[in-house]
Order: sequence, then C-alpha cells, then structure tokens
Amino acid sequence: MTRKTKLNPRRPLVAGNWKMHRTASDTRALIQDIVKRVERVANIDLVVCPPFTSLAAAHETLGRHSILALGAQTMHQAKEGAFTGEISGPMLREFGVRYVILGHSERRQYDNETNEKVAAKAIAAVGYHLRPIVCVGETLSQRESGDTEAVIDSQIHTSLAGFPPEQIEELVIAYEPVWAIGTGKVATPKQANDVHHQIRKLLVKLFGPKGADIRILYGGSVKPDNAVDLMSQPDIDGALVGGASLDARAFFDIIEAARPKRATDHD
Ligand code: PGA
Repeated sequence: MTRKTKLNPRRPLVAGNWKMHRTASDTRALIQDIVKRVERVANIDLVVCPPFTSLAAAHETLGRHSILALGAQTMHQAKEGAFTGEISGPMLREFGVRYVILGHSERRQYDNETNEKVAAKAIAAVGYHLRPIVCVGETLSQRESGDTEAVIDSQIHTSLAGFPPEQIEELVIAYEPVWAIGTGKVATPKQANDVHHQIRKLLVKLFGPKGADIRILYGGSVKPDNAVDLMSQPDIDGALVGGASLDARAFFDIIEAARPKRATDHD
C-alpha cells in the first residue's frame, strides 16, 4: 500500500507535541518558520504533531518531500464506526500523517487512554503504516514511593501486549515522567537515562536482541538549556517536546542538541 522507509537503528528523532495549540491558520506560519530553520539539518528524524484540525494546513504547507514528518496526538483503533469524536488511522493517512502519539499522560489522565487501549491502538497504527510513539511515565507520588520501576514495567508490558515483533522498527517509545510535563521540572540526565536503560532491557526481553534498536525519546520540560545534557545520555535517542516545540527557534535548538555530531554516528 505504501513505500516503506528503511530506518537506521536508533537514528535520533525529535517530535513536537503541539497539544491543543495553534489554529489551522497559525499552523501555516509556524510550519514555515520551522522548515526554514531545519531545511539543512541531516541525520535525524523530525516530526510535528499539530491538532487534528491543523493537519490539512500542515500537510499543504509541507508539500510532499519535506524533512518534517507529520504526527497525530492520538487515534482510534477501529477503521471506522459509530465512535463520535474519534479519528481513525486511514483518516490520518489521507493527510500524510506518518506517526501517532499513543498513551500520552494527558490522554491517560483525561480521556481514559488505558494501557489496554494503547496496545490495541499501537497494533492498529502499524497496520495503517503509522509509527506509534507509545508514552509511558510515572507520577510524582509513584516516584516518591519508589514505584517507578514497577510502573514502567507494567506500562511497557501492557501497552505493547500483542505488538507484532516484525514491526518493531516502526515503534518508538517516549519516557515522560508525569511530574516533569509542563512543570518546568525536568528529570536529571541520570534519572532519565536510568529509566531509558530499564525500558531498553524490557524491550529486549519482549522482542529479543532487536528490541535494543527501538528508539526511546525523553519528554517532560525539554528546553534548549537542558537538551544537550539529556541528549548526550547513552540511552536517550531523542525528545518528545511540548511547550518548546511551539517556538521554532527553541525547537531548532533542541533538534541541534539531539543531532549526532559526526555524520557517521548514526548513518
Ligand atoms: P512539555 O510537554 O515539554 O511541555 O513538558 C511534553 C509532552 O507532554 O509531551
């Protein structure tokens, strides 16, 4: 149905999650501003995830061969049906969407996007040639009571239950500690890397040695001034950026921080 792009294992990826920001007309200007800055950036995958209502404007502005890929912020697992307010994979594909964020903590909290639903959506997403960005992360009270490892373990296991092993090169994980999202409180590079390392081990347990190649992004108050330290951690393969992705300059600085410094690093 579609051409499959070959991915280099663990090529860095930076995704901007615009959340419920920007109308369609504002989207055109922001996309143009980002494209102008990233035009010559190489050796990295770049994604922006505007609201559903901005996807058409973003798609049009980007044209067909852009360096920026489009992502959605969620989707329904069914192809179509009586699901008022929902959007399906094939609907997203029509707007050139290639990625979909699943299980973001805000959707888990406000829209009951459970691990089980995330699993069903992730399987459906790859079936529609969409790359799932599956989000996991502990709350502050879970971290403070020493439950981070157990929470992450259960989220990874349940959210990836039944995921087809032959499709793991399409899969992206985002570790986003809930206490760091939109709060300005960022995990220290070591705190983040420790959890990424744990996730990588879980992925190897689930999928075998190739599981180690699945990209794991860090998210939660990533800004230009903390991005270099976070992105230089061995198990961090990129970033899922909220607030700072709405500012083209800040987003570009984060992309620069995530980019391999030598062309041979990831190619
Ligand atoms: P933030 O959001 O960068 O604004 O903390 C990250 C996210 O929710 O994906």
